[in-house]
Amino acid sequence: MLKVDNLQVYYGGIHALKGVSLDINKGEILTIIGSNGAGKSTLLNSISGFLKYKQGEITYKGQKLGFNPTKIVK
Ligand SMILES: Nc1ncnc2c1ncn2[C@@H]1O[C@H](COP(=O)(O)OP(=O)(O)OP(=O)(O)O)[C@@H](O)[C@H]1O
Ligand SMILES: [Mg+2]
Repeated sequence: MLKVDNLQVYYGGIHALKGVSLDINKGEILTIIGSNGAGKSTLLNSISGFLKYKQGEITYKGQKLGFNPTKIVK
């Protein structure tokens, strides 16, 4: 249902997410764990459309999610 494929996110020269992929089916619960600075917030902000990633793809029910948080929440 929600798929993240090879997500790469940079803050300027800082490579924060280095190829994150996940695939969540309907009814599943996924927990993201990691140390401070591991990239949890960066991942969720990317899925929510707050961060403009340059590489990788995020899809929901097969449709590409863009960078409009209000639309994505709806
Ligand atoms: N606005 C920003 N500008 C520059 N670098 C950032 C910014 N936000 C996060 N980073 C860097 O990106 C990496 C991932 O940070 P992120 O905040 O996503 O981690 P986190 O897993 O949510 O950490 P925490 O457990 O402290 O909330 C870290 O190296 C962090 O320093
Ligand atoms: Mg965080």
